[in-house]
Amino acid sequence: DRVPVLTIDGPGGAGKGTISCLVAERLGWHLLDSGALYRLTAQAAINHDVAVDDEIALARLAEQLDVAFPIEGGRPRTMLEGDDVGQAIRTEDAGERASQVAALPLVRQALLQRQRDFCQAPGLVADGRDMGTVVFPDAPLKIFLTASADERARRRYLQLQEAGVDASLPSLLKEIQARDARDMQRSVAPLKPADDAITLDTTRLSIPEVVDRLTELLTQRG
Ligand code: C5P
Repeated sequence: DRVPVLTIDGPGGAGKGTISCLVAERLGWHLLDSGALYRLTAQAAINHDVAVDDEIALARLAEQLDVAFPIEGGRPRTMLEGDDVGQAIRTEDAGERASQVAALPLVRQALLQRQRDFCQAPGLVADGRDMGTVVFPDAPLKIFLTASADERARRRYLQLQEAGVDASLPSLLKEIQARDARDMQRSVAPLKPADDAITLDTTRLSIPEVVDRLTELLTQRG
């Protein structure tokens, strides 16, 4: 039988990362954080002095990306070429660079099969921008998670504060809006709900409420 996939797409700061992780944990399914692959490609470009517009070199980096996501002490780590880059790839700058390399068709092409390889029994929760539209078009349940830009900026701000990172709310809002615009307007795999996706606005929902709602939807479909 086919391995079931739950795709969770949407703009930055909508809560995809947190929600995907919790739902995967509850179901005992695998998790694909596709944004991390774009962030890691951008980080590899820095490590190897590759320019952010050298599409061919970036695609080669993406194809040969030496990454691992080991779980240590119950927390997943992100290793690139043997170094823990978990912190470095989570900054707003890293997100911005990721969004630049993610606009390049050859880079997306290079990461396609790698993403599909995450689909293994008993199931996969796939978090990103084009999980339902491009990478897993046959997924039985597709969710498009959104929230107002103000609310998403506020969540990012709290997340950064918690991590001890200085941030300004107005500039976060601007960065989020700029990244959304680039992700929605690019010609390959733009950010948009799949035709058969269910849109869930989380502006006024708590994390447990969203997790419950998704588990409910999965039970209905399963
Ligand atoms: O989700 P995250 O913020 O980590 O993603 C970083 C960037 O990677 C996004 O702004 C987007 O440009 C790109 N991305 C993408 N397709 C995905 C996941 C992320 O283009 N499936």
